[in-house]
Amino acid sequence: MEKPLTQHINLQQPLSLKEYEAKGGYSAVRKALKMTPQEVQKMVQESNLKGRGGAGFNTGMKWSFVPMGENAPHPKYLVANADEMEPGTFKDRLLLEGHPHQLIEGMIVAAYAIQADISYVFLRWAYKKAAALIRKSIAEAYEAGYLGNDILGSGWSLQMHLHTGVGRYMCGEETALLNALEGKRATPRAKPPFPQISGLFGKPTIVNNVETFCCIPHIVNNGADWFKGLSKSEDAGTKIYGVSGKVNRPGAWELPMGVTVRELIEEHAGGMKNGYKIRGILPGGASTDFLTVDHLDVKMDFKSVAAAGSRMGTGTMIVMDDATCPVGFVHNLQHFFAQESCGWCTPCREGLPWVERILLSIEKGEGRTEDLELLQMHAQFLGPGNTFCALAPGAMEPLQSALKYFRDDFERHIHQKGCPY
Ligand code: NAI
Repeated sequence: MEKPLTQHINLQQPLSLKEYEAKGGYSAVRKALKMTPQEVQKMVQESNLKGRGGAGFNTGMKWSFVPMGENAPHPKYLVANADEMEPGTFKDRLLLEGHPHQLIEGMIVAAYAIQADISYVFLRWAYKKAAALIRKSIAEAYEAGYLGNDILGSGWSLQMHLHTGVGRYMCGEETALLNALEGKRATPRAKPPFPQISGLFGKPTIVNNVETFCCIPHIVNNGADWFKGLSKSEDAGTKIYGVSGKVNRPGAWELPMGVTVRELIEEHAGGMKNGYKIRGILPGGASTDFLTVDHLDVKMDFKSVAAAGSRMGTGTMIVMDDATCPVGFVHNLQHFFAQESCGWCTPCREGLPWVERILLSIEKGEGRTEDLELLQMHAQFLGPGNTFCALAPGAMEPLQSALKYFRDDFERHIHQKGCPY
């Protein structure tokens, strides 16, 4: 089984630039520079790579919206979204700490494809180890002539900077991230215009996730068909999946796109710990709908998980066991989302703390039957289209599905006036 993204991962001592070059590193930059930017874009488009940040938007299509040619506005920007803060999600951390040069190479190729001038790694504040490694790797890439002016004599120049965030979930939303990079409060912007047209400082900007960029060198080196062939489903490539919860071996693994939920939990995570059973599964971080034991044979790809009523999101699942109270579990998630709301739009700012309070009162045994209708109402009013960005709708996904699958538990809390767990 090919594992292109993680084959050189070394968490103790990541490859230096020289060591990476000895294994074929930066050959994608050399190859891309011999192609036209449009040819690189076409290759990525044909590979059917979909964004690994959670939304699964087609990467090549996103790049194709950037104005090209002599009249295109400059500077153009490229940003790696490394602000990984989705609960239960630690896949980008693996790539950042285990093989930083792969990300930098992917960013350089992507920047060439859209003819960007300036690039940033926007890194989660808490990823201190990654910050040091990326800083060192960027310096090595400048030294070797892969960054800076007239890269490898091509006439094309690219600058790259590391920017560390301040530890807010909101900064992972691409337009809030751009505001933060501009030194402004990290609130989301209205879309359209999408960043590809008007992004950082009003200029064309591509924001992609770390794992997405890490796929790029391999696509350029091996071709679009090879990338598609790595997958077990119609979504191309491999995916870094993760499992956390009361499983025997929590972790993250690079696997063909489209492995089943069962395979992930039973084979890779070693099954549930003794005495625990699966009650619910959040397939891709906290902002996705629950799946249940009835969904163990669902393929972990964007389309299949959506057909099962959830989203693949980041592909790093959280398993909720039968000894864990669903009300307390969902309350904990809503506490996080309410705390992380940027306060920009009223439904999110006011609604999330309200949801959190209702859940806490149910958990404490002070809930009323009508609270379930109130929660249902919130799930609708904070849903897609009613807020400025995806934060509150994402928060409502585990709530609405918990009300659907674990309604009995909510009712027991109310009738027994306390938590039965
Ligand atoms: P989105 O679907 O609005 O956009 C995804 C990407 O596609 C963006 O770059 C956007 O610019 C582009 N796009 C979408 N529609 C477009 C159009 N019509 N024209 C041009 N470009 C378009 O999703 P969003 O709000 O960017 O991200 C939400 C996702 O983020 C969720 O799926 C969630 O799972 C994930 N997420 C991941 C986190 C992490 O730590 N990795 C944290 C929080 C959320």
